[in-house]
Amino acid sequence: MSAKPISSAERDKLLSAARDALKRSYARYSKFRVGAAVLTDQDETFTGCNVENASYGLTNCAERSAIFTAVRETKATRLSIRAVAVVTADEVACSPCGACRQVIFEFGENAVVIFKGTQGYQEMSITDLLPQSFRLS
Ligand code: THU
Repeated sequence: MSAKPISSAERDKLLSAARDALKRSYARYSKFRVGAAVLTDQDETFTGCNVENASYGLTNCAERSAIFTAVRETKATRLSIRAVAVVTADEVACSPCGACRQVIFEFGENAVVIFKGTQGYQEMSITDLLPQSFRLS
């Protein structure tokens, strides 16, 4: 099944939700504040922000924070992601880290990811961002 394209209204709504979540970012160590929003196949939106810790490795990225909330809160039996948007406080380029790509793929093999690249905001499919993703079977 291929990805259902994201309309510009959906994209704007998702970016705005991610910017709202960014306000709650807890990034006292890196000062790199990130917000993310997930759009589900059920047309639900869930958001998250990065949450850092004095023990640095315990940090959770904004994308995974949003996805873990969506897993719990979606009305669907199982989360199915259509799109993920990522924003930063200073509007700097930020594509999802490798760990987040793998987690996005787990719940959205056709997901579209909206993020700021070197040329401004862009959309890429998760399979282009993470070729040869890990699967157990
Ligand atoms: N971060 C995210 O939240 N998402 C990404 O895709 C990349 C990195 C966060 C983790 C950490 O709190 C800060 O950015 C600096 O790495």
